[in-house]
Amino acid sequence: MILAIESSCDDSSIAITDIKTKKLIFHKKISQELEHSKYGGVVPELASRLHAEALPKILEDTKEFFPKLKAVSVTNAPGLSVTLQEGVMMAKALSISLDIPIINVNHLIGHIYSLFIDKEEIKPMMVLLVSGGHTKILQFKGIDDICEIGSTLDDSFGESFDKCAKMLGLNYPGGPEIENLAKRGENIIPLPLPLRNSSDIKFSYSGLKNAIRLVIEENRYKNEDIAASFQSKAIEHLIFMSKRAIKKYHPKNFAIVGGASANKKLRSEFEKLSKNFNFKLYYPEFKYTSDNAAMIARASIELYNKKRFIDYKDLDVKPRVEFKKCD
Ligand code: KG4
Ligand code: ZN
Repeated sequence: MILAIESSCDDSSIAITDIKTKKLIFHKKISQELEHSKYGGVVPELASRLHAEALPKILEDTKEFFPKLKAVSVTNAPGLSVTLQEGVMMAKALSISLDIPIINVNHLIGHIYSLFIDKEEIKPMMVLLVSGGHTKILQFKGIDDICEIGSTLDDSFGESFDKCAKMLGLNYPGGPEIENLAKRGENIIPLPLPLRNSSDIKFSYSGLKNAIRLVIEENRYKNEDIAASFQSKAIEHLIFMSKRAIKKYHPKNFAIVGGASANKKLRSEFEKLSKNFNFKLYYPEFKYTSDNAAMIARASIELYNKKRFIDYKDLDVKPRVEFKKCD
């Protein structure tokens, strides 16, 4: 078995997975959303202190599996360095005390593997990653063969929901808040479609955020209609750029992963696209859309099978990572 630790942002999570069957054996997560909510976003130092409390508590429940562990894996990039550090320290301690190797996992690759929990990989696949820190279209052909088709120039999709929610006086995280408010509103406010006139496959959400700020200042529309109009345009931008990538690369499989892949309107819009362009659409189960260690554990099975271990002295955190660009 492999024990995996995730602490890249505001979720403390540990999972254990069986290497042979790829089945998830244990999974627990303690979320800090409530604690950060009053600040309107994640406070790194607070997050790190809460991880230091939560991770050992979860670890207590995994002791019966210790004799069966063949490796410990941990998210070491990308994310907040002070919170990544908490998971990495625990992984190092376990590696030394149980005499097992360490596997370091890229959190974004973890989100891709949230699709394959208890399952075999599906490849090749085009992947739209929509989380709080990232908005990317990737080509996935295997854990060692991932390239980037396009990324955001500024804010991410999830972040734009968080910022828009904050401007409307809603709680953090803003994604589910905006989605709920939008259900009671109508898409009636004219907003700009980002990067409409560029020929690239890229994203940008800062202009849309500023447009929303002006709409709120204008004080003419109901919050429900602002949420509905914002959500609709934010999703239209994802569809617009994904369509470009689909026309260029003709994927048979297309997946949406990351915290924002929980958005129902987003899912239904991509379902229409999948019918028009004849690809199979995948997303993670709802419970695995946001950050969790189950996806890290699943990704680490592939790395374990390739004997991709790292010496604890060489293991460090990396707040940012880049993928190679696709041809
Ligand atoms: O993947 P994730 O849990 O953490 C990161 O790795 O960033 O993603 C969190 C992000 C937040 O920005 C949150 O507002 C957004 O995902 N999110 C949503 C929804 N649920 C979560 N965005 C839009 N609609 C949702 N239903
Ligand atoms: Zn994430």
